[in-house]
Amino acid sequence: MSQATIGVFDSGVGGLSVLAELRRELPQESFTYLADTAHVPYGDRSDEEIRRLTETAARYLQARGCKALVVACNTASAYGLQHLRQVLPDWPIVGLVPAVKPAAERTRSGVIGVMATPATLRGNVLQDLLTEWAVTRGVEVMLTTSPQLVPLVERGAADSDDARALLRELLRPLAEAGADQLVLGCTHYPYLVSSIRREFGEQFTLIDSGRAVARQTRRVLDAAGRLAPEGTVGGIITYLVTGDAQAAQPVMSQLVGEEVTVQASVCTP
Ligand code: SIN
Repeated sequence: MSQATIGVFDSGVGGLSVLAELRRELPQESFTYLADTAHVPYGDRSDEEIRRLTETAARYLQARGCKALVVACNTASAYGLQHLRQVLPDWPIVGLVPAVKPAAERTRSGVIGVMATPATLRGNVLQDLLTEWAVTRGVEVMLTTSPQLVPLVERGAADSDDARALLRELLRPLAEAGADQLVLGCTHYPYLVSSIRREFGEQFTLIDSGRAVARQTRRVLDAAGRLAPEGTVGGIITYLVTGDAQAAQPVMSQLVGEEVTVQASVCTP
């Protein structure tokens, strides 16, 4: 079992930002990455739909023999994680939450920004984090969202005039209010970093959850006795999509930073 791959799931290509951290943290591991490109974005869907799509994808990766699952999607984690742990007990599952805690701890201005999908913003997971880490410290939180951000990244336009114009509009009120930390509460958003920097320079410290999730995955695998044994040659990655594999290939290659082969999966959430 410890030789099997780790399943990594996202609604689309954003989870590749988490996969990059996982590969750095766990070079001896191999991964099966599943992007539900037929249904992205999840951020505009109902709670129930997000839960159902997430469960279908998770069951598919388990049936392929993955030894653990990383839900590399904030929206799917917010609505699906608790449910997955109930319906798939005994399978190590790691999810992620927006990095509110480090942002609230590090702010000097006392104002932080959180950018996430509409679904993540309305969910209890984020609201509870804000209460626990920001409200109790007297930290002011400014929330921002747009349903257009994920589609921009999905079509390979994270570093484009369109992306910069949208980010300028979304983030200007946060900059004007003095926010000095910006939580990237969606795994697609790390790909927007250079556009944010072009518009706002060093105004914000940008914080995502990828590194923390990679470390947590190591801990969870270790506790379950499922880390690849010393000396295992890792780094074999299978890329699967539920939509059009040919269409996904150029963007996924661009985001991974090398030419990758993308296969169509028979997972049909
Ligand atoms: C989405 O599919 O709308 C975004 C995924 C995420 O929240 O990370």
